[in-house]
Amino acid sequence: MSKPVVLITGGGRRIGAATSKLLMESGYYVLIHVRNSKGLAEELIQTHSVENNCQPCGEVIVADLTSDEELNSMITAVKNNPMLKQAGGLFGLINNASIYTPIDFEDLTLEVMRTNFRIHLEVPFILTKQLIQELTNSTGSIVSIIDTSQGRAWEGLSHYTSSKSALRQLMINLAGDLRNQIRVNCVAPGAIISADWEIEHFASVLEKVPMGRSGKPIDIANSVKFLLESDHLSGQIINVDGGWTIVE
Ligand SMILES: NC(=O)c1ccc[n+]([C@@H]2O[C@H](COP(=O)([O-])OP(=O)(O)OC[C@H]3O[C@@H](n4cnc5c(N)ncnc54)[C@H](OP(=O)(O)O)[C@@H]3O)[C@@H](O)[C@H]2O)c1
Repeated sequence: MSKPVVLITGGGRRIGAATSKLLMESGYYVLIHVRNSKGLAEELIQTHSVENNCQPCGEVIVADLTSDEELNSMITAVKNNPMLKQAGGLFGLINNASIYTPIDFEDLTLEVMRTNFRIHLEVPFILTKQLIQELTNSTGSIVSIIDTSQGRAWEGLSHYTSSKSALRQLMINLAGDLRNQIRVNCVAPGAIISADWEIEHFASVLEKVPMGRSGKPIDIANSVKFLLESDHLSGQIINVDGGWTIVE
């Protein structure tokens, strides 16, 4: 019997890996896109395919999303994927890939700004345009991973926050424009796993979080799965942030 197929970008490690793992465990065939984390993603698939006796539960697609050529090859590979053809379409597109490095405004270049908008906005836009038929055929949906920065000034991160806000707004608008074809939703993680550069800052953020602790990657994965499977939800944003958004 065919399984519903989902594509997740940046799905080989951290939050993406937790989501890929949960979806494989839940009976999905997961196309795990990676750039550098190929080995991790292969290991994830191998482990879960053996544990769940599904040989395999997914596969890895490698692409640097800053490259048009590699993005186009990835789209072709998804469209021609035998499991997707067997399923009759794509059940889920999860826009998770991201870049997150602070840069003081005086050092912020147009190139960095463009790369952030490329990964956070252009790639989800292109994937939506190119995979809309496959999503429609499967009564599928899009879940984009945004953040809780909307309306706030995060020091040295204007390139990141502005491009994530653009993604948020694109998704909300598409939930309307594509209402007769697919559902479109977002998950907005709060403080889940710190980046290497922000360990000290992360501790100070946690002091502001009402629940007083960080979330876990599985908290994001659970919300993604919930949105994928909630047939009457569209245009929604779930803040998975321990209450952070209500106090700031
Ligand atoms: N961590 C948090 O607490 C937190 C908080 C708020 C929002 N979020 C959002 O939640 C999502 C997951 O967070 P995370 O911290 O797990 O993400 P992450 O580790 O910063 O990035 C996820 C993946 O994006 C991929 N990526 C980056 N540049 C790429 C490129 N040029 N081409 C292809 N792939 C590229 C990387 O894949 P490879 O490893 O394969 O290179 C990376 O593993 C992100 O959208 C993030 O913005 C996270």
